[in-house]
Amino acid sequence: MNRTGIQMSPIDSKAMQDIEPALMDSDGVDEMALAELRSEYIANADALGSVPLPGTITGAVTMGVSMLKGESPQILLDKLGERLAYERTGTRLYDALITKCEVMLAGEISMTIEDLEQIRADEARHFLMLADAIESLGGDPTSQTPSADLVGVESLGLVQVLNDPRTSIAQSLHAIVTAELSDKAGWETLVALADEHELSDMVDRFTQALNEEREHLALTQTWYEEAIGLTYGDVEVDELPAQSQSQLQSPPPP
Ligand SMILES: [Fe+2]
Repeated sequence: MNRTGIQMSPIDSKAMQDIEPALMDSDGVDEMALAELRSEYIANADALGSVPLPGTITGAVTMGVSMLKGESPQILLDKLGERLAYERTGTRLYDALITKCEVMLAGEISMTIEDLEQIRADEARHFLMLADAIESLGGDPTSQTPSADLVGVESLGLVQVLNDPRTSIAQSLHAIVTAELSDKAGWETLVALADEHELSDMVDRFTQALNEEREHLALTQTWYEEAIGLTYGDVEVDELPAQSQSQLQSPPPP
């Protein structure tokens, strides 16, 4: 039985809200003290790691040339490292979902395990393509860049949701949709960065990956909606304002 709400215990909740005015004032002071303490840490903190310099001579030369042109290749290497880390996590998220579906999937949604294996293969292929791209610039794909560290921390919650044996397929898909939204945004940035560096071969390959991520997002969002029992056929279109109607009727993005 869920007892988390305040209404579960009217007497205790009244006592809890019956606070001495003096205590209310000191609460504000405590918040200030906490913020001040945090500010001190922020002011004195180091950065979140650094972008490692290419270890190979060709890499160092390539990077030196780019630096002369003022194109800041560190940002590109940092973001390539970020996508690499995220695709690796994505592969593991789909591994976890496949395991869950092998036990729980009962055919009430259109998603199949084969679909998930296909997406998992895309994420793994993207990971390898990024490792190649980093190597082609003289970088070391096994090094952790600051943005790789960042997305690793960001996705911790998603990994926890997928690996929790209690989460349902709908709940797992909710986390997967969050991952795919971030994936799509990440690839858009990477395509733009590669374009800025005039790396046309990378632009082509990254655009292909972006299109695949767009498809992942459209698919997983549809499956999630099916899993919570929402189908477009059930929506009362007449009761929605005109703009929502047109959004509902428009086909999903490619
Ligand atoms: Fe994806």
